[in-house]
Amino acid sequence: MRAARVEAYGGPADVVIRDVPAPEATPGHVVVDVAAAALNFPDLLLIADRYQVSAPLPFTPGSEFAGRVAAVGEGVTGLAVGDPVHGSVFSGALAEQVLAPATAVSPIPPGLSMVEAAAFRVTYLTAYHCLVTIGELAPEQWVVVLGAAGGVGSAAVDIAVRLGARVIAAASSPERLAVCKELGAEACIDYTTEDLKLRIKEITGGGADLVVDPVGDRWAEPALRAIRWGGRFVVVGFAGGEIPRIPLNLVLLKNITVRGIELRTWSARLPEETARAREGLATLVAQGMRPLVSEVHDLDDVAVALQRVADRAPTAKVVIRVAD
Ligand SMILES: NC(=O)c1ccc[n+]([C@@H]2O[C@H](COP(=O)([O-])OP(=O)(O)OC[C@H]3O[C@@H](n4cnc5c(N)ncnc54)[C@H](OP(=O)(O)O)[C@@H]3O)[C@@H](O)[C@H]2O)c1
Repeated sequence: MRAARVEAYGGPADVVIRDVPAPEATPGHVVVDVAAAALNFPDLLLIADRYQVSAPLPFTPGSEFAGRVAAVGEGVTGLAVGDPVHGSVFSGALAEQVLAPATAVSPIPPGLSMVEAAAFRVTYLTAYHCLVTIGELAPEQWVVVLGAAGGVGSAAVDIAVRLGARVIAAASSPERLAVCKELGAEACIDYTTEDLKLRIKEITGGGADLVVDPVGDRWAEPALRAIRWGGRFVVVGFAGGEIPRIPLNLVLLKNITVRGIELRTWSARLPEETARAREGLATLVAQGMRPLVSEVHDLDDVAVALQRVADRAPTAKVVIRVAD
């Protein structure tokens, strides 16, 4: 089968297409014929060997996919050959077939295309947990989403608006913020030209109820400083580069709750919360929610597509179409 391969750690240009042996279904696992795979920021970290966990060389990158079950391993229940599913793996999705633990795939919510289903799984589930499962967002509350035009960010804006929250989107350009406006954000802040803390306080009056932060770096602290007494701050990632060091007196003085979410371990350890979140998302999909996909590339162009993610060029999710 054809697969994207990393044979030496580096950048997008080091990802090549090769013929490799197709996977076989092992106990507890399924093999999926991949129709589409979505790119995520951590793919770049894994390719560069800068992720929290290394992938031994050579490997196939890609974590998020949609397709049909091609083979079912011993002990797997509830999944059959031909079922349309989407799933997430540590690596291996940018290929014609992927081997995945049965617990890491689930039926595609009715109404989503394969491209949409691939783009939906990681970002929307992460965003849902940030907002609902641990963010405890209520209608009419103010939520600030940093990196709001990115994968997790745009999903958080989309879900929060649909749940009746008041959304402040923060991103790095008017074009990126226009996407957030289209998703229903009530207010937008360009954090490269405006004072983030000041603007959040101005817009909300009393401060934000919840901050969702996939960016970290120099944006985390001003956003935290703009939270109201008793508000919440959810740490999702550090796309900006630096892991911020927060003065804990800020957390103490305003009784702020800071929580982290790591989807991979969360899903493995808390299957019931994960199932509840999927149900919540399926309800929103039934009401018309769809992930924003700004680019679809062929598998042959995966290096170009990864470079665009590295350049922060896309305004929404980038998907690789693997098969028709
Ligand atoms: N905790 C979890 O389970 C989980 C799950 C998924 C993702 N993540 C993490 O969350 C972060 C965002 O993931 P994503 O898929 O949303 O990524 P993404 O689509 O690339 O979005 C990241 C956003 O961060 C902003 N950004 C600021 N400085 C940046 C920089 N130096 N380089 C790149 N982007 C920068 C960009 O928006 P502006 O240009 O508008 O600033 C961009 O839209 C990543 O760190 C990822 O590892 C964590």
